[in-house]
Amino acid sequence: MPRKALIAANWKMFKTPAEAKAFVDAFLPLVAGHDRDEIALFPSPVLLPTVIEAAKGSNVAVGAQNIHFAEEGAYTGETSLNQLKAVGGTHTLIGHSERRQYFAETDEIVNKKLHTALKHGVVPVVCVGEVLAEREADKTADVLKTQIAGALVGITAEMAAPIVIAYEPVWAIGTGKTATPEMAVDAHKIIRAEVAKLLGAEVAAAVRILYGGSVKPDNATSLIGQEEIDGALVGGASLKPDSFAAIVKY
Ligand code: 13P
Repeated sequence: MPRKALIAANWKMFKTPAEAKAFVDAFLPLVAGHDRDEIALFPSPVLLPTVIEAAKGSNVAVGAQNIHFAEEGAYTGETSLNQLKAVGGTHTLIGHSERRQYFAETDEIVNKKLHTALKHGVVPVVCVGEVLAEREADKTADVLKTQIAGALVGITAEMAAPIVIAYEPVWAIGTGKTATPEMAVDAHKIIRAEVAKLLGAEVAAAVRILYGGSVKPDNATSLIGQEEIDGALVGGASLKPDSFAAIVKY
């Protein structure tokens, strides 16, 4: 079974509700009827109701950039899975490198969030990737294996079907430096092998692994066109409807 690609927009901390609505209104006609790939938008929490309402009934899913692992409680500033689902969100990013870097998110926290997302039937996109110093020290494989093993603690093959993984080399995020298709493919193979080791060959063959890090309309085909690369997680180039639509239609 070929894996259906997921092309996802991580808007990070950009856009007001009015700008988000204008994006969706302009974007939907550009991708109308596009069913070769799944499409998802990940806006900030305050934008979720606006974006979900604007995308209702379309081929575009909407998710959160982050969720908390607790069901509810005194966690100022956080968003629960129930809150996300109540406004119609279906996906969530987990463990984005910016969360790891600026908000001290560890593999253990990523693992807790993954368990909660799966319990709630929300599609988790688990982000992994090495920083430049790790790549230069030839530690990429070790880092990816550690992050994958840490994320998947207590996850069984039966639970794993919804999981999506995003490989985002940190040195390629927002820098204009893209991993070459060969580098990305090598990393995806390491990740898939680790998933096979932990959850079996069947899960590994089915799991979608996205590439993220300076994906643009002009490099999307060379990356997503690789058999090992099952879509893209796009930051900067996802902020404009025409640019993100061009990536979706790579
Ligand atoms: P850029 O596409 O801006 O490099 O961001 C990638 C990213 O972090 C997506 O999650």
